[in-house]
Amino acid sequence: MSALTLSTSSATTQRADVVVIGVAKGSKGPVVALGGETVDKAYGGKLAATLEALGAGGSEGETTKLPAPSAGLKAPVVMAVGLGDAPGKNEAYDLETLRRAAGTAARALSGTKKAAFALPVEGAAAVAAVTEGALLGAYAFNTYRSTADGKAGGGSKRGGKPESKKDKDAGAPLAEVVVVGAKARDKGHKAAAERAEVLAAEVSRARDLINTPSNDLTPAVFADQVREAAKQHSLDIEVLDEGALAKGGYGGILGVGQGSDNPPRLVRIAHTHPRAKKTLALVGKGITYDSGGISLKPAGHNETMKCDMSGAAAVFAAVVSAARLGLRVNVTGWLALAENMPSGSATRPGDVLNMYSGKTVEVLNTDAEGRLVLADALTRACEESPDAIVDVATLTGAMVLALGNRTFGVLSNDDAFRSTVHELAEDAGEASWPMPMPTHLRKGMESPVADIANIGERPGGGLVAGLFLKEFVDEDVLWAHLDIAGPAFNESGPFGYTPKGGTGSGVRTLVRLAERTATGDLT
Ligand code: BES
Ligand code: MN
Ligand code: ZN
Repeated sequence: MSALTLSTSSATTQRADVVVIGVAKGSKGPVVALGGETVDKAYGGKLAATLEALGAGGSEGETTKLPAPSAGLKAPVVMAVGLGDAPGKNEAYDLETLRRAAGTAARALSGTKKAAFALPVEGAAAVAAVTEGALLGAYAFNTYRSTADGKAGGGSKRGGKPESKKDKDAGAPLAEVVVVGAKARDKGHKAAAERAEVLAAEVSRARDLINTPSNDLTPAVFADQVREAAKQHSLDIEVLDEGALAKGGYGGILGVGQGSDNPPRLVRIAHTHPRAKKTLALVGKGITYDSGGISLKPAGHNETMKCDMSGAAAVFAAVVSAARLGLRVNVTGWLALAENMPSGSATRPGDVLNMYSGKTVEVLNTDAEGRLVLADALTRACEESPDAIVDVATLTGAMVLALGNRTFGVLSNDDAFRSTVHELAEDAGEASWPMPMPTHLRKGMESPVADIANIGERPGGGLVAGLFLKEFVDEDVLWAHLDIAGPAFNESGPFGYTPKGGTGSGVRTLVRLAERTATGDLT
């Protein structure tokens, strides 16, 4: 991740490769946002006019680079990033606007070494937003590239022009972020920036895991990575391997994993605080690859299914965040890891599984596997009587059809808790929407042979999945289910601080939820 420093010096004195300023849409053309005043002065007060002449209007997502004036600025280049409509008098910029603008600029600055962000930061929350946006926007996943810019293989190997250092740097993320206007000596500013730095690092951890192809991220490898992080951050850890799962009767996780050569795992990690009054349990769907199993997915539906462990990645990252932030709350993460593959040993449609809860499930569609692994993990998590339990899963295509690619669904057994989760997500900068659990949909899951079938009627498929999960949650514990199938993996172009590929959806919401749990008031 990019290095971070805070600076109270003026934007004009920043020793950086680029100074980033904000430009908003005013009623009479673009206006330079707060934070950019001294830069504007260096241009003789003509920065807005110059930007307008260059075609910049201040829209969100817009970046404009211009050479620094001949005198008055230490940095050689200025980048103006659009902030959208200018806020009214005495109104501040929306935090998500700042986050996105910083992210857009950071993305546009890949290949640059050091950038100073002189955006409108009044107060600790704005400092956090700019920091978070810049660090998240500067993310790149280059693990599998021979050259960082992705021009595959490098010329030298193919007999073309030799690979140069410059080529390699072009795709490298922005290395150093300076947040101008943030006071390192102000306790509030410092804490806000540090929290943002932890969040960005942990969202990046989730993104890396999601982007790692399934041939390199099996359930066992995932569990090993959790073990390593647990050691580093002093978390409790327990890994149930296939033997332990069989002994414990985890029929859901085993049933999903049995078709694969890579056996399943159930991982428990826990952050505990000696003065914690509440315990939050988080459960993540960790299908390291979802082929659909015997109910095989058609071509066109399986290319992105390495992302089906995004829920587990979010839970993992959130528990580590809680530890790094020293939150005064216990947070237990359960990662239900399995690979869903078709083979001679795979579960067949029509098979009945004996779940960890004691219930039986008729598997009518092996592609509805997420709910099976989650069911076992939810039952197990409930045994520890947490104050609240939240599962995160790329669970249904139906939720993507309902809410689109950028919004996750929130289902719950408690209306107030569902609202809390929705509000916390908004606060964290993650789009979500409350969804109902109409009880009449339970009927569709009636099975002639078992307690329940793993699919129901097709309409409202995301809600049906929620009703299935509910069967495995204690009635008297607050529970919410986040279906992140839409926002977990970005198949279109990058935007704001969201890259292509794994997004780390859910992490920031879960951390807010842990912080909220620490206050003792969840509804
Ligand atoms: N992992 C998929 C859901 C998914 C779809 C995630 C698109 C991300 C993007 C899940 O396991 C699945 O296959 N669900 C089925 C359930 C159906 C068989 C009831 C679906 O949504 O089609
Ligand atoms: Mn599936
Ligand atoms: Zn799946």
